[in-house]
Amino acid sequence: KMDQFISSLMKKMTLDEKIGQLNLPSSGDFTTGTASNTGIAQKIQAGQVGGLFNIKSVAKIREVQKLAVEKSRLKIPLIFGMDVIHGYETVFPIPLGLSCSWDMQAIEKSARIAATEASADGICWTFSPMVDISRDPRWGRMSEGSGEDPYLGSQIARAMVQGYQGDNYSKPNRIMACVKHFALYGAIEAGREYNTADMSHVQMYNDYFPPYKAAVDAGAGSVMASFNTVDGIPATGNKWLLTDVLRKQWGFNGFVVTDYTGINEMTAHGMGDLQQVSALALKAGVDMDMVGEGFLTTLKKSLAEGKIRQQEIDNACRNVLQAKYMLGLFADPYRFCNVKRAQTEIYSEANRKAAREIAAKSFVLLKNDNNILPLKKSGTIALIGPLADAKNNMSGTWSVAADASKYKSFLTALKDAVGNKAKIVYAKGSNLDADPAFETRATMFGKTLNRDQRPANEILQEALKTAEKADVIVAAVGESAEMSGESSSRSNIQIPKIQQELLQALLKTGKPVVLVLFTGRPLDLTWESKNVPAILNVWFGGSEAGDAISDVLFGDVNPSGKLTATFPQNVGQVPLYYNHKNTGRPLGEGEWFQKFRSNYLDVSNDPLYPFGFGLSYTSFSYEKPVLDKNKISKNEELHVTVKVTNTGNYDGEEVVQLYIRDLVGSITQPVKELKGFQKVFLKKGESKNILFTITNNDLKFYNLELKFDSEPGDFEVFTGTNSHDVQSANFTLLP
Ligand code: IFM
Repeated sequence: KMDQFISSLMKKMTLDEKIGQLNLPSSGDFTTGTASNTGIAQKIQAGQVGGLFNIKSVAKIREVQKLAVEKSRLKIPLIFGMDVIHGYETVFPIPLGLSCSWDMQAIEKSARIAATEASADGICWTFSPMVDISRDPRWGRMSEGSGEDPYLGSQIARAMVQGYQGDNYSKPNRIMACVKHFALYGAIEAGREYNTADMSHVQMYNDYFPPYKAAVDAGAGSVMASFNTVDGIPATGNKWLLTDVLRKQWGFNGFVVTDYTGINEMTAHGMGDLQQVSALALKAGVDMDMVGEGFLTTLKKSLAEGKIRQQEIDNACRNVLQAKYMLGLFADPYRFCNVKRAQTEIYSEANRKAAREIAAKSFVLLKNDNNILPLKKSGTIALIGPLADAKNNMSGTWSVAADASKYKSFLTALKDAVGNKAKIVYAKGSNLDADPAFETRATMFGKTLNRDQRPANEILQEALKTAEKADVIVAAVGESAEMSGESSSRSNIQIPKIQQELLQALLKTGKPVVLVLFTGRPLDLTWESKNVPAILNVWFGGSEAGDAISDVLFGDVNPSGKLTATFPQNVGQVPLYYNHKNTGRPLGEGEWFQKFRSNYLDVSNDPLYPFGFGLSYTSFSYEKPVLDKNKISKNEELHVTVKVTNTGNYDGEEVVQLYIRDLVGSITQPVKELKGFQKVFLKKGESKNILFTITNNDLKFYNLELKFDSEPGDFEVFTGTNSHDVQSANFTLLP
């Protein structure tokens, strides 16, 4: 039925109208676009626009859709996209934080709520999930992904697609997902934004492709090409990537959109002028051109000159129309424009409650000497730091639909939490950074921090005076929201120096100090980990972060987040990740320096905090893993049981992790690979036997011929509380 409908529609379309469907302009800046943007309004009526993004609200979207379905010749509805990355107005933690929950139900729920809210406000397509694996915290966009692990990343990709689209995205409370940035964007050199990526095919297939594939397998309706090169050709013009891998190998049948002016940027990459690169992109498999209008302005000429084929334009047009059909837009172009839904379903009580709970799950307790945490709701608590009273920074980067005027700052939330049981005193303590130019660059898009113009020492002294009155100091320091995200790479991944000086001064008071860390990336916290007694990493927890942080600080919620990206000891170790190869000269376990071994003179190979690490207010003990057999054939399952006991004083959740090492392979294998995890709740004193099932599929990898298969031989299986603290057992896969 759909095919017939589209075929008969396409028969009526002129070449210009077909090319028009491939054009995706931005209607404004983030959410500021309007229908009265005259240039765009004229193009819509002329049938030169397929969709629009950066426009928010039912009223504005309805007005634009009206132009398309009443004033254009063929009345083809527009598709409306937006960067709904970690929530809409109800904002969830930044994706890196969300991933640290290791809670697929929570992650799916966050995407479902985002879809409900966005679809209530006219949006039917989100540029999410971002599933780029990254091992480089210098890259600001690590904040938008799920960390360094392909197995966990794949599960999260699936959960997000499921949350946005459900079983059928034609339902009015579902939106179409767009997997991005295909591919390898997280592997750009030196973590410098928009830089080159280059790697072997076995590494692509084993370490970087799995989450994209998982999202495609889950039915994602669209894919966004990345800015970087893949095999020396920008992804946007890479036919091997967009057609051979994506469509032929993985069976993707949705549509491919560029990332912004990705086509035009191929000129700077050195791939030719706008006409050449537009043809290259179309032939590679791009269907929709975001913003750059290379398709709109050159494809007709290229067709006339025989540089592209009619079939290629038709395919792209069909892919776009198919998405619109599947979204139900031909049946009702206004189906996502429901004022009543917008009034009742956006930032609702229920959604906020979910966001508060999910935010608390994303926090990672990195240190808690002498059980300083949880705090008591009594006495005087000094809240100090440039991020304490910054409600516009709570939601983090890429929260374009956020409305910070509705949110609470951490300070307000802390006061609400204690009521009249305790006294909260506050001082800013320092600016974000000593350099106003850096602070300006790092606080953009409505997320500016009001810079205190007084001399730094005056601001600090005021804070020390405030701290004098307190029993405990809570320091809210770290990065601003826009110190991570797009175009926010850093070569120094420490907390800005002026804030470290603030911490030093606060520690000198001799009072207990709790560091509440705001960050969008793994940081070098070497100094803090040695000197500050308690560190709670809260990332950017979203619209309800203030309440969620208070819930955890006072122990109403026991933290259970685990890192999904390694925290290095210093930036020189980067890239540092748990699933590395052994090398031919590995360093002995627990060793530091050995001449002629793979190591550094000035720092050990260890991370500061490994992948999978995170403390709780309680403690868990692990017994050795028990295997039900030590030899399996390829069609047999192996069962691994590990007994975990809550040995501390609180009920709590623990992420029990299982890793595997393939000891001999036709290509070198990682020293450990996550192959299973379970988040379990254990009451104080309770023990549980956690059962994992390993199948042949878990033992497979892409070999040199890019065949996904297992190889008989010996394996090691590890279980534990993080990727470093594990116990192991061995088994053999029989031929
Ligand atoms: O979706 C984003 C992408 O992640 C980065 N460039 C702009 C796109 C649209 O806003």
